[in-house]
Amino acid sequence: MLIPATSDHIRLAAAALRQGELVALPTETVYGLGADASNREAVAKIFRAKGRPANHPLIVHLAETAQWTHWAREIPDAAWRVAEKFWPGPLTVILPKHPQVPDEVTGGQATIALRIPAHPIALQLLQAFGGGIAAPSANRFGHVSPTRAEHVVEELGARVAYILDGGPCAVGVESTILDLSGDPPALLRPGRITRAQIEAVLRCRVALKPQRAVRAPGMLAAHYAPQTPAWLCDGATLAAHCARLREQGKTVGLVTCGMSHRVAQVAIVHALPRDPQHYEAALYHTLRLVDRQALDVIVVERPPDDEAWAAVNDRLSKATVAELGDS
Ligand code: TXA
Ligand code: MG
Repeated sequence: MLIPATSDHIRLAAAALRQGELVALPTETVYGLGADASNREAVAKIFRAKGRPANHPLIVHLAETAQWTHWAREIPDAAWRVAEKFWPGPLTVILPKHPQVPDEVTGGQATIALRIPAHPIALQLLQAFGGGIAAPSANRFGHVSPTRAEHVVEELGARVAYILDGGPCAVGVESTILDLSGDPPALLRPGRITRAQIEAVLRCRVALKPQRAVRAPGMLAAHYAPQTPAWLCDGATLAAHCARLREQGKTVGLVTCGMSHRVAQVAIVHALPRDPQHYEAALYHTLRLVDRQALDVIVVERPPDDEAWAAVNDRLSKATVAELGDS
């Protein structure tokens, strides 16, 4: 049931979590599908609702760092430093897990993912609930993450007890994942908090280590993906490619980075902002809108390649099936 996130409803949602029910909650990144992280049966419901393989670990969300000794076996100095700088916020930290953490949460791994989100409704829910909330993105496995409450309704509907409506998510892409369980620290998923920002706080090099497929649903080929086949294309050849697809009788949805292209004759254009943070905030909603138009192809203009665009480029490489090369 979709409910506005009033204080009464937040208390209701916390009570549902205590009873082992699923609650979808807004965070500043994307909406999460939450369950009591200490309750094995509740956690199992997350995997059933999402259709997600059981060996894919979940992020446990906390209200404050005082709680993390319950979840992590050891908390290195680096973890305190990034927590102080970036929490509450869009950063997930991987640490060696505490033996009492249910295996269902970590997919049987020896490490655990922890995050204190910055969204006021997520924090109020965490405080009212009191424990850790395990929450993956609130979409069916492999789909685009939800950045509005209505997306969660589309994805999961009656599979969740309550969906707390907190409006659109400000960040719009999933949290940065930083693995602090080994040496050197490693970035497993780029996000709003960049590798350079983390390196500045830790004063050491952070390795880039994409997760292995089995550990990381985000690394599978068709992840974060719309249902319509989507292709990446350089700005310079965009107009020619769209025209050719149109000649082949295909209907084309085009997602641009800025508004410079004259392709309105051959494609339905969705112009995303040229600024990476605004682009991130709009990306998933736009992919859903284009997907709903039941077109033959989605063409996505390739954004710039610098670090500010790392999260966008990572998600686009997963949302698209291939690249349109020079013709
Ligand atoms: O922004 C976010 O992180 C959102 C919101 C709801 O917090 N959550 C999210 O969860 O994106 P999910 O499950 O869709 O993605 C979590 C990622 C997965 O790629 C998972 O493999 C990785 O975190 N992960 C979780 N625990 C891990 C661990 N112990 N080692 C390595 N990767 C881990
Ligand atoms: Mg996800």
